[in-house]
Amino acid sequence: MNIKAFIFDMDGVITDTVPYHYESWKRLSEEENIPFTKEDNEQLLGRSRLDSLRIFLKGKKITPHREAEMLEKKNQYFHELIKNLNEQDLIPGIKDLLLAIRKLGLKLSVASSSKNAKFIISKLGIAHLFDCIIDGNLVTKAKPEPELFLKTADCIAVSPCNCIVVEDSAAGVEAALRANMKVIGIGPEERVGKATFRYNNIKEINLTEILHANQN
Ligand code: G6P
Ligand code: MG
Repeated sequence: MNIKAFIFDMDGVITDTVPYHYESWKRLSEEENIPFTKEDNEQLLGRSRLDSLRIFLKGKKITPHREAEMLEKKNQYFHELIKNLNEQDLIPGIKDLLLAIRKLGLKLSVASSSKNAKFIISKLGIAHLFDCIIDGNLVTKAKPEPELFLKTADCIAVSPCNCIVVEDSAAGVEAALRANMKVIGIGPEERVGKATFRYNNIKEINLTEILHANQN
């Protein structure tokens, strides 16, 4: 298989917003008297805002009005925490990796469940590096469904089998495999062990190894 495009997840891959999402849910959990731990937060990685709320509620039923109210609060808390986000908040090694991929003439895209993805990518000052940014506003079925990745492949006009995804969440790895793409998992075996390649962090990614392994 021949890699023609790299598709990057954003939260936890391009920038470490995971603690900010956690803090925002934690604040809401304290107001709502719902227990919420760091382990609970792991279940939310890669999930859409609404799916995250439903997992957060642990089966507790609330009205659509309350649901909307809580989602708005969570997003407001999150925005308070990311207001000063800038280029310093890029994950170590990510900019060099993106530049190396561009230098190889491959397509580069973001596929994030976050409805804040375009805002965050522009704050990080790297929007110009991507051919396409597909975010949570553009899909109806969130990860682990493959829709987000299939839309991205469409946008960059590359067949899914020629795309490789960089993901830090179990839901994202599953979505990419279901889209018939290869995946580079970032994180521990227990979380991203199903990925085609796995590294502990972005700096460890070995482009030569990946591109050779896939050029039959
Ligand atoms: C990413 C994160 C999730 C987050 C989701 C929605 O996938 O990994 O933790 O809940 O995006 O983000 P949003 O910015 O739209 O609330
Ligand atoms: Mg992620």
